[in-house]
Amino acid sequence: MAELLVQKLQSFPRSIRVPGDKSISHRSAMFAALAQGVSRVDGFLPSEDCLSTLYAMRAMGAEVREISRSQEQGMSVEIGGCGLRLRPPAGVLDCGNSGTTIRLLSGIIAGQGFEAQMIGDASLSKRPMKRIADPLRLMGASVEGQGEKICPPITVRGGQLHPIRYELPMASAQVKSAILLAGLFAPGVTTVVEPVATRNHTERIMSHFGIEWWREGPEISVRGLEGRPFAARDLVVPGDISSAAFWMVLAAANPGRELLLENVGLNETRNGIIAVLKRMGAEIITQVQSADGEPRGDVLVRGGALRGTRIGGAEIPNVIDELPVIAVAAALAQGTTRIENAQELRVKETDRIAVVADSLRAMGATVREFEDGMEIDGGGPLHGAEIATHHDHRIAMAFSIAGLMASGQTRILGSDCIATSYPGFEGHLASFCAAP
Ligand code: S3P
Repeated sequence: MAELLVQKLQSFPRSIRVPGDKSISHRSAMFAALAQGVSRVDGFLPSEDCLSTLYAMRAMGAEVREISRSQEQGMSVEIGGCGLRLRPPAGVLDCGNSGTTIRLLSGIIAGQGFEAQMIGDASLSKRPMKRIADPLRLMGASVEGQGEKICPPITVRGGQLHPIRYELPMASAQVKSAILLAGLFAPGVTTVVEPVATRNHTERIMSHFGIEWWREGPEISVRGLEGRPFAARDLVVPGDISSAAFWMVLAAANPGRELLLENVGLNETRNGIIAVLKRMGAEIITQVQSADGEPRGDVLVRGGALRGTRIGGAEIPNVIDELPVIAVAAALAQGTTRIENAQELRVKETDRIAVVADSLRAMGATVREFEDGMEIDGGGPLHGAEIATHHDHRIAMAFSIAGLMASGQTRILGSDCIATSYPGFEGHLASFCAAP
């Protein structure tokens, strides 16, 4: 098991360029594989999660040609699509640690004329797939998995789908996207009703590929394509704000420091971390540019004396992946921070409420845990500790940031999980540990 040793912060680089957005990279591979013709994707995130998606699309007939790969620019890849009709995979599809891969692929396979089995690692094998099985079965597909929660391995058999109008029982972009993808293969209009707005990358990439969809209040609808494929189109993936969030918190918690994060995705359904850190006392300046329908730009963070805040309600889906590192910011802020309505955190790569609360306590913070969130009394000194990551990349990275702000040494146990979303993280971390 790999481990990462983190010491107190020594220096501050001027700027960081984080790798490509995970959510957008997954969708770029899936839509390019369904398109007619060859799409070039630049800035694709070559992390384990996104490669799981790319390899799955290749196993189902997409032609994948890697053009280049670098730390600075990510991966450039050409994807020759199948024009909606994929080919049955020769073996099982390994989704690794990736919930987005298994859930969105299920929506696509539901619309194909074959059966495929999807497996995952120990963490993914505990995650509930019932949330996609229920609507996909209503549409006419067969979805079988393990136990009541329908955990992986799961087998999806495509069929003649029919459109549905489905009220999501939870705020989940993965479930919304699985239904919209299946809706492309159903005749007529498929509608998803969201309890709270979630990330809209699937909708934006559908616009990019010229697929008709519309939104009326909380309802998002697509019209089935009746077997008519959409054309290939190139796209450029911006940097991942969820990866930038680690450095944003670090800069925010250091008064007098300034850090520039370059080429960060600034989609309005993902940029809640900026509002939260501003509320806590940081100064943040963004310069938004738009391309491919996904806003992006540079983000300058100036540290301040952070104070506690309240995070809940409609803001939660917008910061869902950032909550572990926001909890670290809360431990570094004066006063109390309350996070509520975040029960979805319990079914992520690990139970992020329990693991964040335990890990913060191990470093000296006072945390009260609730079913749907936690309250953190911040401002006390943090000390180094051993952190068990439970194979959760965001726990590993959030507590690396805590380690930079703590006395002594922090040991991140099982740090290899970082590769699921942020290749190059350890190099960026090292730039804060080097002697000035
Ligand atoms: C994602 C949606 C979110 C998020 C995950 C990526 C996506 O999950 O936590 O990291 O790309 O659609 P849920 O849909 O389970 O909330």
